[in-house]
Amino acid sequence: MGFVIGYRRPDAPDTALVWQVAVDDAQRGRGLAGKLLDGLFERLVADGVRYLDTTITPDNDASIRLFESFAKRWDAPLERTALFAANDFPDEHEPEDLFRIGPLGKA
Ligand SMILES: CC(C)(COP(=O)(O)OP(=O)(O)OC[C@H]1O[C@@H](n2cnc3c(N)ncnc32)[C@H](O)[C@@H]1OP(=O)(O)O)[C@@H](O)C(=O)NCCC(=O)NCCS
Repeated sequence: MGFVIGYRRPDAPDTALVWQVAVDDAQRGRGLAGKLLDGLFERLVADGVRYLDTTITPDNDASIRLFESFAKRWDAPLERTALFAANDFPDEHEPEDLFRIGPLGKA
């Protein structure tokens, strides 16, 4: 029904980059993506991760909301910066913003 994939940055092991999160069309809007992220980061934070990084295209409302809600639930600051502009890509592509959430697991 859904998955989340990512990796821990080799040069910054306190940071996990969420590469993709997706939920089947028919299962969206029920909190599944949020639960997948919470479950993954409960394990990662217990293992020393303090930051979540992800890139999002500015038109992806569902994804932006997903990560804003994650930051709220985890009581962590969210920093948003422009990472790639549309003309950084060789083909047609939306810009990508970097979202960085953390520090996680303060409590
Ligand atoms: C982004 C995606 C994974 C969200 O999955 P989901 O299981 O429906 O998300 P959740 O039900 O956990 O919702 C998370 C939040 O986003 C909100 N949301 C969900 N769909 C939304 C939409 N289309 N527009 C605005 N907000 C939306 C929910 O209301 C919820 O907000 P809340 O926590 O304030 O209540 C899903 O829409 C998807 O697979 N999209 C296509 C793939 C994609 O773009 N992935 C992200 C790129 S990495």
